[in-house]
Order: sequence, then C-alpha cells, then structure tokens
Amino acid sequence: MYAIEIEKLTKVYGKGETAVTAIADATFQIKPGELVAILGPSGSGKTTLLTAIGLINEPTHGKVVIDGATVADGGWLPGIDLKRLRREKLGFIFQAHNLIPFLTALENVMIALEINHLSRSEAKSRATELLGALNLGHRLNNFPSALSGGEAQRVAIARALANKPKVILADEPTAALDTENGKNVMILLKKLALENHSAILVVTHDHRMVEGFDRIFHVDDGRITGEKNNSGGSVNHELG
Ligand SMILES: Nc1ncnc2c1ncn2[C@@H]1O[C@H](COP(=O)(O)OP(=O)(O)OP(=O)(O)O)[C@@H](O)[C@H]1O
Ligand SMILES: [Mg+2]
Repeated sequence: MYAIEIEKLTKVYGKGETAVTAIADATFQIKPGELVAILGPSGSGKTTLLTAIGLINEPTHGKVVIDGATVADGGWLPGIDLKRLRREKLGFIFQAHNLIPFLTALENVMIALEINHLSRSEAKSRATELLGALNLGHRLNNFPSALSGGEAQRVAIARALANKPKVILADEPTAALDTENGKNVMILLKKLALENHSAILVVTHDHRMVEGFDRIFHVDDGRITGEKNNSGGSVNHELG
C-alpha cells in the first residue's frame, strides 16, 4: 500500500477569466519510508500540491489517497473526517511556524502528543527528547516570542514530528536554519523514514538538503515534469 497516492490531481483557484490552474493533472505514488523533494520556481504550485495532499486545500478534480484511505475524488469525499485524519496520519511543517504564543517551547510540542492521548509524563519525555535532538535543550521553557526565527521553526518541526506521523509534509523547513541545524532536521526526517516508515514530501530550495532524498520531483507551471533518482540515473518521464 502507498502512503500517498494522487491521481490527476488538479487545483484551480477562482473562476472564469481570473481562474488560475495551480496544479494540473498531477499523478504519483509515494511508498512508506520514501523521502521525496519537490523543486520548482516561485508560483509553480508547490505549496498548493502540499496543502491538497495535507487535506487543507480542497482539490478541484482528481484523487487523493492517504495511507490507503481515499479522501478526495473530485473534491473531498462526503463523510470524511478531515480533522481526525490530519491529526492521526499527517505531520505538517509550514513556512510560518504557527506556535501557540502562551505556551512554552516544551508545551507547544507536548500539546500535540496529549491531543493524541499520550499521558503528560510520556508527552514530556518525548517532547524533551525531540527538542534536544534539534539543539533546543536549553530553550524548553522559553515562550515563542523569546525564540529566534530558526529556533521557533525547529520547535514547529518537533511538534510536527512528535506523533511519528505516517505522512510528513514540509514546506521549506530549513529555509530559516543554518547549516548545522538544517542537517539535524534532515537527520531527524531520515530517522523517521527509516524507523517509522513515514513518507516524507519536502518542498525545498535548499541544495544541502536534496542530497539525502530518494526522489526529486520538478514542478513547473502546475505540472510535474520529471523525477530524478538520487542515484544519478535521470528517469525524466512524464508522470501524468
Ligand atoms: N488562495 C489562492 N487564491 C488564488 N490564487 C492562488 C492562491 N494560492 C496560490 N495561488 C496561485 O496559484 C499559483 C501557485 O501558487 P503556490 O503558492 O502553490 O506556488 P509555490 O510554488 O508554492 O510558490 P513559492 O515558491 O513562491 O512558495 C500561483 O500562481 C499563485 O498566485
Ligand atoms: Mg510555496
């Protein structure tokens, strides 16, 4: 079973003369444990693709299947519990970090675990471990307003990964980070892919990151034009 499957996925914003087709007929499958990078110029449709797969942007046409469950087929399927699926299957790292301002770094990560029914002490030990792996052991009790941009981004990454989601979607996760912290994020993502068989889809311009990926998709003007295998062999076929 695939972790992510999309078929002829299309997203059109607006109607009539001002309509913009942000993603056109995208088709691909991603296996559990695969790390896939998405590259493409600004405005090419990368965020639209990610948010459609992340169940926060309703597709106009086409299918989205997450961990075997069809969630969209020409729009959301009726009766689908999007919130629950998002909480249980997905980890989303946004460009803007969206931390809760009145909770500390530690509490921002713990809350994601407690929502999924971990006890307070289990949540605390997992959150502490994750924040430590992201070089934030000395910032556990700081509020978001007292963190640098890169630190806040790493707290948001810890929160997205806390529940070991089966599907991890990240939009430029390392853009605000220095080389060392960017590498730590990549190491954590690889660890989740390997140990938890999470499928990981990352939009990035960061060439330091791309090396570690299994596949690379190129998005251009709403179309996925090619896929390059990291081993160097260029596949470069039309994906759909
Ligand atoms: N909510 C929206 N309403 C209307 N048009 C939108 C909306 N969101 C995105 N678009 C348009 O859809 C196209 C794709 O946008 P998208 O944000 O997916 O691009 P992107 O590849 O993520 O760009 P960037 O690298 O700058 O983040 C662009 O032409 C954009 O202007
Ligand atoms: Mg974007």
